Amino acid sequence: MKEMPKHIAVIMDGNGRWAKQRKKMRAAGHRQGVEALREVLEKADELGIRHLTVYAFSTENWARPKAEIKALMLLLLEYIKGESKALHKKNVRITTIGDLTSFDDKIQKEIAKAKALTKENTGLNFNIALNYGARDEIKRAVSSIIDDERAGKREGLAVSEEEIEKHLDTRNLPDPDLLIRTSGEMRLSNYLLWQLAYTELVFTETLWPDFTGKDLEEAIKEYQNRDRRFGKI
Ligand code: FPP
Repeated sequence: MKEMPKHIAVIMDGNGRWAKQRKKMRAAGHRQGVEALREVLEKADELGIRHLTVYAFSTENWARPKAEIKALMLLLLEYIKGESKALHKKNVRITTIGDLTSFDDKIQKEIAKAKALTKENTGLNFNIALNYGARDEIKRAVSSIIDDERAGKREGLAVSEEEIEKHLDTRNLPDPDLLIRTSGEMRLSNYLLWQLAYTELVFTETLWPDFTGKDLEEAIKEYQNRDRRFGKI
């Protein structure tokens, strides 16, 4: 059997277009996107994937119309509140990356509760990128290294890759082996720019709300057929 990716990162794109095709509100596309996420999470768990990181809300998404942001926040709250017990039962550990301080208190509290409830779990790590942007993450990492320097917590002025990694939101995660982006767009959109250095990229035309467990398996097959050399020959 070929090796399974340990960490899969996903850009869940195409919710808006899915809704438009059906003459529905964009929020309906996001709602259907949550259904797709449920199925993918289940399949990833079944396949023994260790970490699944999904791009749920980017630092740039705040520029969307207020009504869409409100709908996304509501969905997020509903999802975290409604799903964390079931995920806990499945031994899933919920974590996040991104700067949560911009979310309202209610959301922050529910996320903290879900993380606390599931923190000892040893199954799939479901990692949600929320108010996440890779440039923002790197900026925060650099600031935190400067804080350490000011506090006399480090030696010398040289900075290593390891030190930077320890200050990124992903400090406890291996780099993704596979990135999947749906909806035919072929760019990274400020997602995990440091961590994707050697990741295999799989792009599919399928819109996120239509993405199924079977599609996940297909993407993994494509990954398994790639020759990963990490810059070596
Ligand atoms: C991109 O599609 C998708 C998003 C910006 C949000 C993704 C969110 C979800 C799938 C649901 C919420 C997640 C959780 C964890 C509850 P788009 O709106 O940019 O689509 P478009 O490019 O077709 O307009």
